[in-house]
Amino acid sequence: MIRNSDISGAMTIKLDKIFDQLPQMPEFVNGIRRASTREFTLSRRETELALKNALRYIPEKWHTVLAPEFLDELLTTGRIYGYRFRPEGNITAKPVDQYNGNCIEGKAFQVMIDNNLDFDIALYPYELVTYGETGQVCQNWMQYRLIKQYLENFTRHQTLVVESGHPVGLFESAPESPRVIITNALMVGCFDDQENWHRAAALGVANYGQMTAGGWMYIGPQGIVHGTYSTILNAGRLKLNIAEDKDLRGYLFVSSGLGGMSGAQGKAVEIANGVGIIAEVDYSRIQIRHEQGWIGRIVDDPAEAFSLAKEYQQKKETLTIAFYGNIVDLLEYAVDKNIRIDLLSDQTSCHAAYEGGYCPQGLTFEQRTELLRTDHTKFKEYVDRSLKRHFELIKSMVDRGVFFFDYGNSFLKAVFDAGVKEICKNGKDTTEGFIFPSYVEDIMGPVLFDYGYGPFRWVCLSGKKEDLIKTDKAAMACIDPNARFQDKDNYIWIRDAEKHNLVVGTQARILYQDVAGRMNIALKFNEMVREGAIGPIMMGRDHHDTGGTDSPFRETANIKDGSNIMADMATQCFAGNAARGMSLVTLHNGGGVGIGKAINGGFGLVLDGSERVDGIIRIAIPWDVMGGVARRSWARNENSIETGIKYNVERKGRDHITLPFIANEKLVKNLVTDAFEKKRSSHAEP
Ligand SMILES: NC(=O)c1ccc[n+]([C@@H]2O[C@H](COP(=O)([O-])OP(=O)(O)OC[C@H]3O[C@@H](n4cnc5c(N)ncnc54)[C@H](O)[C@@H]3O)[C@@H](O)[C@H]2O)c1
Repeated sequence: MIRNSDISGAMTIKLDKIFDQLPQMPEFVNGIRRASTREFTLSRRETELALKNALRYIPEKWHTVLAPEFLDELLTTGRIYGYRFRPEGNITAKPVDQYNGNCIEGKAFQVMIDNNLDFDIALYPYELVTYGETGQVCQNWMQYRLIKQYLENFTRHQTLVVESGHPVGLFESAPESPRVIITNALMVGCFDDQENWHRAAALGVANYGQMTAGGWMYIGPQGIVHGTYSTILNAGRLKLNIAEDKDLRGYLFVSSGLGGMSGAQGKAVEIANGVGIIAEVDYSRIQIRHEQGWIGRIVDDPAEAFSLAKEYQQKKETLTIAFYGNIVDLLEYAVDKNIRIDLLSDQTSCHAAYEGGYCPQGLTFEQRTELLRTDHTKFKEYVDRSLKRHFELIKSMVDRGVFFFDYGNSFLKAVFDAGVKEICKNGKDTTEGFIFPSYVEDIMGPVLFDYGYGPFRWVCLSGKKEDLIKTDKAAMACIDPNARFQDKDNYIWIRDAEKHNLVVGTQARILYQDVAGRMNIALKFNEMVREGAIGPIMMGRDHHDTGGTDSPFRETANIKDGSNIMADMATQCFAGNAARGMSLVTLHNGGGVGIGKAINGGFGLVLDGSERVDGIIRIAIPWDVMGGVARRSWARNENSIETGIKYNVERKGRDHITLPFIANEKLVKNLVTDAFEKKRSSHAEP
């Protein structure tokens, strides 16, 4: 019989190494947003299992106290978070040299984790949710404590393995290997659905990492401001015939959501000089964005919202208005009064519509929270009814010439799940896509991802603003604004980034760049670290990128060769980045669109100024970007083929991409028509 004393004796990293005695329950600070109760659906046997699973982290001497406490958490919140092990008060990223550790990577990842859990950044900091309603750094505070301990202890000869938030352990590796490898919620195919995930999460064996939350690379809403700015600007160019050197002056953008990522919408409209109305049901979110200066005015009357918008559109001045209320009510008014909206979207958390991500029409935010807790079936009915109405209103607007696009929140899929088959191109299922475009399919895919432009980002680990200013300037010097219009947009973005006051949390920046831009900027930064001009940098990207994510409803929505249901690219991207020595690699199920609907991955690379890191940048960045471009070009995406041709010439003797020959449409069509005709007539013969 194995004894707990033997188990304890065999481990040097464990909770009672940090705590001499069971810590006191920390105070919950008033006014901090809390995750809504996740529905409790476990059977009696599964509840026992969940409890035993959580107690695996706990030394036996504390079981009698913690077992009832954990059971209570499970029954009341739907999860075991282990609140008792949460540090007291706010968790804030400190300068990297204030962390303990045996190597810079170990300290750097602690900066990133703490930044992801900061009260100012995290959506539900007590429940370890960074953004997107359910995206967690890890599942519980015991894991947080152990991960921190591992990061403090590991050396350049070890790799920490994290599976769905659980630190499996340290394994010997080479100094050139990744220091951390993370996977989140990778479920076996036949169980890869919401119901099984929900059960697995309650059992304490699955973590929903979203994209950068579980990959520890979230940098606050700034991370998405640049992408949103590029999306709405290019939507205007494509659909409103705005010239490449002009912006959204005089145009109206309407959407919803001022949460973790959606909160970027107001700022993006402002940077593009347009007018925006963003509906939000949770007043606390509006307040945050207002205090931050990302929202100009708050109104709760649709008439006032639209009249203010009109005034600013006519003046050709920018204004961002938060409408405190439901997006469906706002759209009812616009349809009723025949108000002209130029660009329309939605960024409620529809990837988790039935878990509270979408607040149905007819319920206030508080009523939604209560109904979610008391009657999930009824809540679901409300959501379905509201989504149907939402769809009808959008349809009437589109009929009047409004450009609506899905903004990567699984809105179209949620409408389909609510029972609206009409939203599918083929009127029955999602295999051929939806009648409305998704922002990647029509805009971001062809204009950015197909060329390799994606959300490159960095964090100044020193925490110093001067470092960020220096890196902004250095990055700007690497961009030729006359190369392409995308480069011009990116140049303007980085030139004005400081002025727009985008930093929330630690000093970080996002900048869309293509392969050459990312590599040159990373090399420049590493040189600056080497010369002592700046402190070390964490470089990474959003998973939402050229090659990091397979997601047929989003990132790979513009892949049309039938391979959009495959997840080979994201998996290869992850493996290739590990093989090339990125400091952290991560692969997740779900991301922004929900479990089973995407596989996505990312990386982190600590720029320590060494030549070793120069070497990694030179081989890993081209792979990370061009692996995606290669797949996109193989799907016959023209802009990617163009990029691939150029790349094969530039990198001759180093890299080589297989490019597709293009079949003659007429040849194929005629042949297939003849074959089908023959087949039909042979069947018709008696
Ligand atoms: N386009 C992208 O690049 C991208 C990136 C990240 C996330 N996403 C997706 O966008 C969605 C939003 O992400 P987030 O991090 O902002 O989530 P979030 O949950 O923090 O914010 C969503 C907000 O919508 C509000 N809301 C819900 N229903 C509403 C309604 N009917 N009317 C008005 N407001 C309503 C909520 O109160 C909440 O504040 C998620 O589905 C996420 O996966 C998209």
